Amino acid sequence: MTIPRLYNLPTVDINSIMTIAERDDLPFPVKRVYWITSNHEDEIRGEHAHKSCQQLLVCLHGELNIQLEDNHGNKSSFCLKHPNEMVLIPSQYWCKIAYKKDAIVLVMASHEYDPEDYIRVYDEFKSQELKYHLG
Ligand code: TYD
Repeated sequence: MTIPRLYNLPTVDINSIMTIAERDDLPFPVKRVYWITSNHEDEIRGEHAHKSCQQLLVCLHGELNIQLEDNHGNKSSFCLKHPNEMVLIPSQYWCKIAYKKDAIVLVMASHEYDPEDYIRVYDEFKSQELKYHLG
């Protein structure tokens, strides 16, 4: 079973800091990459689960607070402040993300965009059987 996880990626100090994620550092083949630039000091995003899609989040700037909950009510949270940190959000986890300090977030996803992959109603998420499987 895939569970949420924090990765510390290798960095190279070149006066600036370069962070590197090679294919073997990533838990799934990435099919989609997108990034979000928050325009607000504090913004709540997410508040949904995915049936099959897994995601890796990197906070490139600012700060992110990620709250996760599985279908059994087990909760975990992560605070991302450093660009070499990466969080794995497995499928079938309810995810709420607080963007702090004008956060800029890079997301790597295991699937192409599919609106049908979203569970957007919390009660629906909590009441359903875990019937979806990784594609
Ligand atoms: P959503 O995944 O709900 O964003 P967040 O989790 O940050 O709150 O997506 C927001 C909107 O963007 C939604 O209308 C769908 C659209 N969208 C795409 O068209 N393609 C994508 O790859 C993603 C991630 C979102």
